[in-house]
Amino acid sequence: MGQQASFTRMQDGTKDDWMIIAAEHATEFKTTADRFIGYLRGLEKITVGFAVNQLHHCLMTATLARRDNASDEEIVLALCHDIGKAINIPNHGPIAAEMMRPYISENGYNVIYNHQAFQGEYYYEYLGAPTDLRKQWVDEPWYDLAEKLVDEWDAPAFDPEFQPDTLESFVPLMRKIFHDKPMPL
Ligand SMILES: [Fe+2]
Repeated sequence: MGQQASFTRMQDGTKDDWMIIAAEHATEFKTTADRFIGYLRGLEKITVGFAVNQLHHCLMTATLARRDNASDEEIVLALCHDIGKAINIPNHGPIAAEMMRPYISENGYNVIYNHQAFQGEYYYEYLGAPTDLRKQWVDEPWYDLAEKLVDEWDAPAFDPEFQPDTLESFVPLMRKIFHDKPMPL
């Protein structure tokens, strides 16, 4: 265990306490990439009716992005777009977007936040929801990336025969994007 502040009520905190807490946070931030990798590994247990589990799906999505010469951030967005399913499936897009927010661009945040609505084009008709939700964002600067991620990398990534790149092969990229200096919100 590292150093600890002395207060039991925040009201009594001193500068020394907060210097200790800030230093301990800085150490903890170095483990962010590992935490994300752990959540991705956990997706292997989630299949929910698809032909592949969610880890395979995410690895395939990221592999397609990498083979499409996507940028480093775009590859990590592809890899982690469904990471919110490790917490709660119905709002997994916003969860994933918020998890990544201190490390990614605003465009990337919006793509991940809204990716399910873009995907709805393929299946919302079977669930009684409108399929043209993406139209509302057609003028947004992140629209083209959302279409590319959803239509070209995410939607085709349910093939059990496909051999995706390994999770280990993405670790250096994960460490680059989820570095130890998150932007304060
Ligand atoms: Fe997906």
